[in-house]
Amino acid sequence: MVEVSTSILSIKEGEESKVYFELETAKTDYFHIDVMDGKFVEKDTYHKMIENASYIKRISNLPLDVHLMVEDVKTAIDDFLAVEPNIITFHLEACKSKEEVYEIINYIKENNCRVGISVKPNTKIEEIYEFLPYIHMCLVMTVEPGKGGQTLLTDMLDKIATLKKYVEEQNLELDIEADGGINLKTAPEVKKAGANVLVAGTAIVIANDFKTIIDELKS
Ligand code: DX5
Ligand code: ZN
Repeated sequence: MVEVSTSILSIKEGEESKVYFELETAKTDYFHIDVMDGKFVEKDTYHKMIENASYIKRISNLPLDVHLMVEDVKTAIDDFLAVEPNIITFHLEACKSKEEVYEIINYIKENNCRVGISVKPNTKIEEIYEFLPYIHMCLVMTVEPGKGGQTLLTDMLDKIATLKKYVEEQNLELDIEADGGINLKTAPEVKKAGANVLVAGTAIVIANDFKTIIDELKS
């Protein structure tokens, strides 16, 4: 069953609480929290996302899907565990060794949180295979991480399909999340490729009825 994780990155300043309540009513499956440190990616949303996630935690029971686009993964995990997220996803490219990847996976799990690993467009999907049995979700970036409102990179569809095939062959239980440039036009092909969690920011935030757009993305 396909789920929608709404990215809060592109919500206009000052409209946050109104939009969060509307997204709660529209039953987004997750709030997608895009954490950027100004080093792994250019933008720095770090403190704003701690504030936003804490506020959402207070007003909603819907799960938080935290996407760490940071170099110092450990510190960010500690900071975001405070908002009791449903899942914390970190970037494979932020890790210097396989040991570090396993260390982070275990650290997130020891803190009773689900764990995801994300790969940037230029990272080969095979690089993540060995970690798949130990994680709950693979986040395939369908844009270059760093900002909302970009156009989906269509050659990422093959990457998602390759991952899906491998997951099925290996009988793995794993969510495949696609993130970036997802809208009513691109969602069908992303789902066909095998993603079962769709991150959408701009497409949802600009819509005048969140429930309709979320239901259509899922259908
Ligand atoms: C980009 C973020 C995405 C982005 C999605 O670095 O990881 O979650 O905010 O936004 P849209 O849906 O506008 O591409
Ligand atoms: Zn994201």
